[in-house]
Amino acid sequence: MGMTNIAIIGCGFVADLYMRSFASFPNQRISSVFDTNGARLDQFCTYWSLEATRSQEALLAGLPKGSLVLNLTNPKSHSAVNRAILDAGHHAYSEKPLALNMQDALALHGLADDSGLHLASAPCSVLGEAAQTLAKAAREQTAGDIRLIYAELDDGYIPQAPYKDWTSESGAPWPFADEFHVGCTLEHAGYYLSWLIAMFGPVQKVIAASAETIPNKPSADGTADFSVATLFFEQGGPPVRLTCSITAPHDHRIRMIGDKGVLSVKKAWSNSAPVRFHKRMILRRRLLEHPIGRRISLGKTTHPKVKRWGAAEMNFALGPMEMVEAIETGRPPRLAGDFALHLNEVTLAIQNAGRSRGVQGMQTHCDRMEPMPWAM
Ligand SMILES: NC(=O)c1ccc[n+]([C@@H]2O[C@H](COP(=O)([O-])OP(=O)(O)OC[C@H]3O[C@@H](n4cnc5c(N)ncnc54)[C@H](O)[C@@H]3O)[C@@H](O)[C@H]2O)c1
Repeated sequence: MGMTNIAIIGCGFVADLYMRSFASFPNQRISSVFDTNGARLDQFCTYWSLEATRSQEALLAGLPKGSLVLNLTNPKSHSAVNRAILDAGHHAYSEKPLALNMQDALALHGLADDSGLHLASAPCSVLGEAAQTLAKAAREQTAGDIRLIYAELDDGYIPQAPYKDWTSESGAPWPFADEFHVGCTLEHAGYYLSWLIAMFGPVQKVIAASAETIPNKPSADGTADFSVATLFFEQGGPPVRLTCSITAPHDHRIRMIGDKGVLSVKKAWSNSAPVRFHKRMILRRRLLEHPIGRRISLGKTTHPKVKRWGAAEMNFALGPMEMVEAIETGRPPRLAGDFALHLNEVTLAIQNAGRSRGVQGMQTHCDRMEPMPWAM
């Protein structure tokens, strides 16, 4: 591995998390980078000892065909930048969401297909140890048949957090205006949706509601900052309740409730988060689940880990590196194609549910995801 060139468009907050993550794959170099903000591009390149490319066209034209370009721009630019990458004959790995509407997402998916290129979408935590361990425990029926899943992505009352002081490693400010404008569901639902779709296959129906709970956030313009969704899978998996908010106290648990007990992970944003099995039992005439739980581990070497920065303890390079391996061995990448498109559709259905548009059947499909080889 490591023959494929990787380039980056968009060198803001998250680009630093990618660079720190790529440092854990020393054989993979970043060949070129570009950002429309020249000052930020210079700051990024100085910090990471990279050479700046001064236009998107120059970056795309300077790469050998079939390179991998990471689109780490703000969501409103995703669609156009993804298209430019594919039009130039390169594979695209897009930060989430792939596109802000399904018309654009479908067109990009079609373009990639017609061009024999791959279009993948973050997040890639589904390829990490916590998600793969949880999926294996579910496959092996550690908790028996899974009957119901509760997944929470509540971030705390973010508008009162000192977010103007949050900066990335090389000094990019956390883009609070963009985050409030785009909304926490589009920004975050994918973290657990990707795990669930990988495990149980495509979602058939979403019953959801979303609302703005805290008015007057910078640039939010009424964007929903809270959503709750019930998901039903096409292949008959358990129903899921998924919540997202920047209002309710921080809670990133996923709990898979089975006949024998509960599988749980407390942190969505840590590849090393423990997966636990809380056995159900009867103690003196009370029914309860073991409060601490038995830690489940794969007992194998999995993937390189990165240290925590801010709220994230995730290796952001897992997705691009899995994609490089797929390109070089001629198989489809796990996060590309139908998977990326379906993830986008389910996320948009929840974000845009509002107070009355709530029930939506899905039009896109994808397969369940093959586990990573070390989690078989
Ligand atoms: N901030 C986080 O913690 C975080 C974590 C995971 C994922 N993400 C995702 O990463 C993406 C970027 O977020 P961010 O926090 O880095 O935002 P950011 O605003 O800090 O960085 C985005 C960068 O892209 C540049 N840009 C915008 N449009 C461009 C274009 N057309 N061409 C070239 N450069 C362009 C901007 O100048 C900016 O420097 C978003 O999709 C977000 O959902 C962010």
